[in-house]
Amino acid sequence: MPADPARPQPAQLNPVLPPVPDIVRSAYATLVVTDLAEARRFWVDLLGFVVTAEEPAALYLRGYDELTHHNLILRAGPVAAAGALGFRVRSPLDLDRAVDYYKALGCRTQRLPAGAVRGLGEIVRAEDPLGFLVDLFASAEHPERLQQRYDLRRGAEVARLDHFNICVPDVPRAYDYYAGLGFGLSETIEDERCVYAAWMYRKQTVHDVAFTGGAGPRLHHLGFFAHEAHSVLRMCDILGSLSLEAHIERGPGRHGVSNAFYVYLRDPDGHRMEIYTSDYYTGDPDHPVLRWSVLDPRRRDFWGNAVIPSWYSDASAVLDLDGAVRPVTDLAQAAEVTVGADGFTAKNPAAPQQGPQQAPR
Ligand SMILES: [Fe+2]
Repeated sequence: MPADPARPQPAQLNPVLPPVPDIVRSAYATLVVTDLAEARRFWVDLLGFVVTAEEPAALYLRGYDELTHHNLILRAGPVAAAGALGFRVRSPLDLDRAVDYYKALGCRTQRLPAGAVRGLGEIVRAEDPLGFLVDLFASAEHPERLQQRYDLRRGAEVARLDHFNICVPDVPRAYDYYAGLGFGLSETIEDERCVYAAWMYRKQTVHDVAFTGGAGPRLHHLGFFAHEAHSVLRMCDILGSLSLEAHIERGPGRHGVSNAFYVYLRDPDGHRMEIYTSDYYTGDPDHPVLRWSVLDPRRRDFWGNAVIPSWYSDASAVLDLDGAVRPVTDLAQAAEVTVGADGFTAKNPAAPQQGPQQAPR
């Protein structure tokens, strides 16, 4: 990639930093919900998540393809917020590396014994440089395999967690941190001035983590994979049938970025989730980056449908290592919502419409 200050650059190798932990994939998230019974009705009864385990103040949920204990922990608490974002690492050695790595970055770090998070082995929990709480784990319980229990499937028939989308005030800084952890870059939204959003991966899909420029740290949404577009549509039909259509925030539609078929829903606490299907393989070592112009109305919705303003403004607060809600920092760069060609701005005939461009990473 040529030196270009408008585009994120690979992390500068710092010889002082110890080896990075080998992250395999995004694996689970923790959401604090203010009414666990209400959250259970939404996530389990309507969306069809599988309950792996249940406690008086917590639910451990997974999709039908997930072979480890959970993809989502719903924990009852006084304030709706996002807790730790969980990443699987390859081996116990990577937990030792994680401790050294985050300490070298100056991040507060904890080592939690096996079972401290139900269903998982030992965990390294850190406040990452972007202000998010992350859990790294190397082993997990394997509950009953449900991939072919078609008789159990309900709701959106969610298969697994696919990605985290996080709001950050400085997208190139977020890119730099995750590139330093060995994440590949699949797609961006940008112009000649700056990068507004970026998608990065460890597993061989479009992303494990994406950055949306905005006040942060905040969790924009959790992305869950479904196998079929009709699962997305069926979920919308179910919500409509029950007069719960207000939970549908945006979509359904086809993303330009990632090519995925999607819908965004809000849970009873306002936490945003995406049901997402049909993105693509990114495993080749020379996988080319797809760069979308911020002026292309198709980048966020390939059919040019409106992006809802709340989709840009709203996101979940995140917790720190002590369980307190983290303060946020305002966006430190140009805002996509004001310069981009969205449904509510694309009516501007002066906005040129440009297609995506291929560029080497
Ligand atoms: Fe997403």
